[in-house]
Amino acid sequence: MKQLKHFIFAGIIVAILTAVLGYLFTQIQFFPPAASMQAEPIDELFVYHFWVIAFLYSLIVGFLLYSIVVFRRKDGDESEGDYIEGSTTLEITWTIIPLIVVLFFSFLGGRALAETMRVDPNAMEVEVRGAQWSWRFEYPEFDVVSTELVLPVDKQVLLKLSSADVIHSFWVPEFRVKQDLLPGDLVRELRITPTETGEYKVRCAELCGAEHANMRAPVLVMSQADFDTWIADNQAAVSDDPVERGRVWAQQFGCLSCHSTDGTVIVGPSWQGLWGTEETLADGSTVTVDEAYIIESIQEPNAKIVDGFQPDVMNPSIYEGITDDQISDIIEFIKTLE
Ligand code: CUA
Repeated sequence: MKQLKHFIFAGIIVAILTAVLGYLFTQIQFFPPAASMQAEPIDELFVYHFWVIAFLYSLIVGFLLYSIVVFRRKDGDESEGDYIEGSTTLEITWTIIPLIVVLFFSFLGGRALAETMRVDPNAMEVEVRGAQWSWRFEYPEFDVVSTELVLPVDKQVLLKLSSADVIHSFWVPEFRVKQDLLPGDLVRELRITPTETGEYKVRCAELCGAEHANMRAPVLVMSQADFDTWIADNQAAVSDDPVERGRVWAQQFGCLSCHSTDGTVIVGPSWQGLWGTEETLADGSTVTVDEAYIIESIQEPNAKIVDGFQPDVMNPSIYEGITDDQISDIIEFIKTLE
């Protein structure tokens, strides 16, 4: 039983290494602070994984280091090593134990998944619409549309996500959960219960074209009272001023993600100084920017492409719900951008 001694020593090394690494892994801030109820089971799973990773790494490296040092070939020893036959017991052991561990982890994973999907019948519904390259949040209960996702704290929100064009992905790292937005009528669901008030950011986590990296929107988690005020303010916010309304529509329909108001060229022509100018089109002809041209460019974006810009970038399905009144408000807004 001389071998037992080696197993005990190597085992002690493995145990110490596991403890040190596991402790380090759980101390390092790999993630931003958790700010949703759904984050808890996910972070818990990560902690279990860190300890398994620490143990497996230590098991291999611990025995390796021990062997390198203790079983090093002595000077002048030219003899052959022992011939070792296979060991059925060992093989069964190292099949059964990992099998049990993996099954146990699939149980933990299934349990965490169920927890992140747990339904609260009082959840507030928000329709999330992704488009190249903007986010739009509709609160059907309150008839409010916003470019910011505003949520009351400690209340489950049921997000119904869909895309106007390509696949996008809704991801707020602090909430941990993530969900793709699919084009067509495929509405996906995601449940989030924010637990911390504060400002976060939704990022698009699916490569979706030129402005993918800038497809972000603010997420504000606030108290129920502040949320109620925000809803009331928004319901009252339909201004008498067409220019102000136009600015709101341009933001809500995502126009401003591609058309700047300060002369910067993003994806489409800037709106600054646009009104009344003459644009040269790809085929060399010119067009004056008037009401008819802007209406056509919103309803049929590919009809006249300004020289130097790409066709088929602006997807008309994004603006399907836009009304003629909203378009004329947007035109009033464009007129003021001198
Ligand atoms: Cu939308 Cu990336």
